[in-house]
Amino acid sequence: MPLADLMMPLIRLVDPERAHRLAIHALKLGLVRDGPLAAADPALRMEVFGIDFPNPIGLAAGFDKSAEAWRPLLNLECGFIEIGTLTPRPQAGNPRPRVFRLLEDQAVINRYGFNNDGLDVGLRRLGDRDRNAGIVGINVGINKDSENQAGDFATAVEPAAPLADYLTVNVSSPNTPGLRDLQAADQLDKLLAAVIAARDAGAGTDRHVPLLLKIAPDISRDLVHEIVEISIANSVSGIIVANTTLERPDSLASQNKDEAGGLSGAPLFDLSTKVLAWTYLAAAGRLPVIGAGGVDGPDSAYAKLRAGASLVQLYTALIYKGPGLFRAINEGLATRLRTDGHATVQEIVGIDAERWADRAAD
Ligand SMILES: Cc1cc2nc3c(=O)[nH]c(=O)nc-3n(C[C@H](O)[C@H](O)[C@H](O)COP(=O)(O)O)c2cc1C
Repeated sequence: MPLADLMMPLIRLVDPERAHRLAIHALKLGLVRDGPLAAADPALRMEVFGIDFPNPIGLAAGFDKSAEAWRPLLNLECGFIEIGTLTPRPQAGNPRPRVFRLLEDQAVINRYGFNNDGLDVGLRRLGDRDRNAGIVGINVGINKDSENQAGDFATAVEPAAPLADYLTVNVSSPNTPGLRDLQAADQLDKLLAAVIAARDAGAGTDRHVPLLLKIAPDISRDLVHEIVEISIANSVSGIIVANTTLERPDSLASQNKDEAGGLSGAPLFDLSTKVLAWTYLAAAGRLPVIGAGGVDGPDSAYAKLRAGASLVQLYTALIYKGPGLFRAINEGLATRLRTDGHATVQEIVGIDAERWADRAAD
């Protein structure tokens, strides 16, 4: 067992924000290497929006907000990582404490509020990266005091485009007042037109940089349909479903369950997978969907893919299960595919979408 996995129970005794900083430092010092990288299993390869992913399991935004540890993170056998959310200007975020473990629920509530070193610093840290050493997406947002939200998103997207394998426009954090309102149809249309133009200006004509939209799980099926149509009309390359939820399922047992902020982890799985299936069905093959929310092992990753995800992201389970999780999911996924008689991940994408969507109507 790698040293980092042995340390996991001890790290959990530390305040969660401090534990997060310790994890970033340990990664930077090279203490979290999980042995040599295994050869990529061809069954797990996925080509999505023109990018060839070695496996479909990525690290979601929020763990490496300021692009400090992307290099060692890529050694954990994740198929890709998403750094950010980076905002145009550096930002301190909300007062502490602002992140809470819900151990009994295998969940987290956070109200960080986009604390990050700012776009310039984040991009500088990515500047010397070897493009062949792993897939890095850049997730951008806006400062809390933004007075021109679409303009500020565009300001962030343009310089990020040349350094990104893909870009994510985050309109779904619950911790920046007014941000989620940008998901409404008329606002979203204007926003996407502005960021796509900024992407094209930044990336130049010789390179295509896919631009994704990340949405909240707390939305109606009607709004999902509108978001999908507006995204397609604006040439968005994919939709990430979902960010954290403001819901508090009745099942929550931890004493921290009433803290303000976004809930992530196991209790988010059903809700986010339902909205994922809605998005997949609405898109009807016109754009891919990336599934995030409550993935904690091979079974939940397999279910996300079957519900309609072409790629999967996770964050919270890493806190409870440690850095060996990506490898464990990849091994388990490959076994499940073979046992069920599938040659590739692509074959299972969406085969349970109707079931998940109907279940939503219950
Ligand atoms: C502590 C924490 C911080 C997060 N910060 C961000 C962020 O800055 N930007 C973002 O788009 N999502 C952020 N997220 C949301 C995750 O990227 C992900 O969408 C969500 O947590 C659901 O996945 P999970 O259940 O596997 O954690 C954060 C999540 C957590 C737990």
